[in-house]
Amino acid sequence: MDIETFARKIPKIELHLHLEGAVRPGTFVDLARRNGVALPAFDDVTELYNYDNLPDFLKIYDLVSRSIVTADDFHRITYEMLESCAESGARHVEFFFSAHAHQAHGVTYPTMLSGILAAMHDIEADKDLSSRLIPAHSRELGLKRGLDFLDMVLEHRTDEIIGIGLDYNEAPFPPAPFQVLFERAAEAGLHRTAHAGEGGPAENVRDSLAILGVERIDHGYHIVDDPELVAACREQGTFFTCCPSTTTGTTIWRDLSAPDHAIRQMIDAGLNVTINSDDPPMFLTDLANEFVLCATRMKLDADQLKTCALNSIDASWLDDGVKRDWK
Ligand code: ADE
Ligand code: ZN
Repeated sequence: MDIETFARKIPKIELHLHLEGAVRPGTFVDLARRNGVALPAFDDVTELYNYDNLPDFLKIYDLVSRSIVTADDFHRITYEMLESCAESGARHVEFFFSAHAHQAHGVTYPTMLSGILAAMHDIEADKDLSSRLIPAHSRELGLKRGLDFLDMVLEHRTDEIIGIGLDYNEAPFPPAPFQVLFERAAEAGLHRTAHAGEGGPAENVRDSLAILGVERIDHGYHIVDDPELVAACREQGTFFTCCPSTTTGTTIWRDLSAPDHAIRQMIDAGLNVTINSDDPPMFLTDLANEFVLCATRMKLDADQLKTCALNSIDASWLDDGVKRDWK
């Protein structure tokens, strides 16, 4: 089997995907029209998916989020996203969603949850794909809003809701102020992860681990600027949810084939890297394609792709018994 076919076929787990960033382009246009959201002019909507940095990307991400309003809308985007993951070879998906981006436009949290959870159940029955939900707090909103967010998550908690994340603009919003939020989430038995080292420095990776106590790091690329932290994370077996295509739009590592690309350096340094798709249609990709890019552009061999896929089992928040069965 050639490496590209292998990359497509290998069974996968998706650990870093944002529901709103995974809305199909046609669905985005349809929902925006139905819900009266004005869009800039375009011939093909993917012309809007054109960004040079994280803040620019997040503006379009918020526009997509605004177009998702009813429980049926949430059901549709969740079902379609999980269906695309299944087509990429995913067996399990742990995905983020940005409640505040909808609450800002009058949508209630129970409305969102009812559509999302129903679609998760439907896909499990239709495609044998398990999934879990990670509500994520926008770091731009600060700690006080974060504590309100956690109260809301706990009030409406179900078995599918397994943890919390921290995302949005990293550079001006470091992790340390969110210590109490993450302590309370841990006390409540929720898993914890945070975006760090994507648009911010290696220090954000260190502080997310040391101060927030996260169990995995989303992205983490700037760790390569701090060899001591690399050594510590290798020693501790820290898991990183890396997203190759995202790096070409939001980071300084634009060329996936460069020998000093951060993900290549992280793998070469022996870190526990997993491969994920982040906001797949918005970066014109899907999970299978991310594995293909690792093979064809980053020149990972079959053993390295397999190691990344196996890392995802260990990094997931599946029950230990399920993890054992899958390895
Ligand atoms: N939300 C969606 N994608 C994101 C990313 N790559 N970084 C931060 N927040 C995000
Ligand atoms: Zn992300």
